[in-house]
Amino acid sequence: MAIRIGDVAPDFTAETTQGTINFHEWLGDSWGILFSHPKDFTPVCTTELGMAAKLKPEFEKRNVKILGLSVDPLESHKEWEKDIEETQGAEVNFPMIADPERKVATLYDMIHPNASDTFTVRSVYIVGPDKKVKLVLTYPASVGRNFAELLRVIDALQMAENYQVATPANWKPGEDVIISLAVSNEEAKDKFPAGWKEVKPYLRLTPSPDKQKSETKTA
Ligand code: BEZ
Repeated sequence: MAIRIGDVAPDFTAETTQGTINFHEWLGDSWGILFSHPKDFTPVCTTELGMAAKLKPEFEKRNVKILGLSVDPLESHKEWEKDIEETQGAEVNFPMIADPERKVATLYDMIHPNASDTFTVRSVYIVGPDKKVKLVLTYPASVGRNFAELLRVIDALQMAENYQVATPANWKPGEDVIISLAVSNEEAKDKFPAGWKEVKPYLRLTPSPDKQKSETKTA
């Protein structure tokens, strides 16, 4: 069954390049990003893994752990990692699940038979510290993911979770955000001391809450 936003991310135990991992235990209090690769020794995946490895410090800054998956065995992953380091200039510094029996791929609906019976699509699941799914993205095998967008969406998710706000189209960190419809104007005066611009009663823009003076965190 498809996994939807708000569902508890299915738990599993799997072999990875960094030992056996129980997903929920491994997440601990962190956010997580789980993404699938169609197959080892494939060109697009090679570039994606190199990029993810280079951006690991950015994910860590946001308290996000990275977990990759490919349906090939562990020995194959380890050989492939040598190529990734050689060609992308980055050591794969996060665990990669070996899933030759497609247990995790099936659990997470990463094989779309009308695309391929054997390759996974490029799935992305972002999971919060509460183990709930916060974002689901699915790309075809031929299209490499945009890791800058994944970081941006994590920033937007964390902004929405920490403050009662949403983010407008093409939002980037530091830009104005939208005050949640659940917040009355009376409440907004306390929560957003910098004030807001009321474009419409349902569209109130306020400066990035992490830059406003008083403590507006809801958690
Ligand atoms: C790739 O990662 O390059 C790839 C994998 C499967 C199908 C097409 C491309």
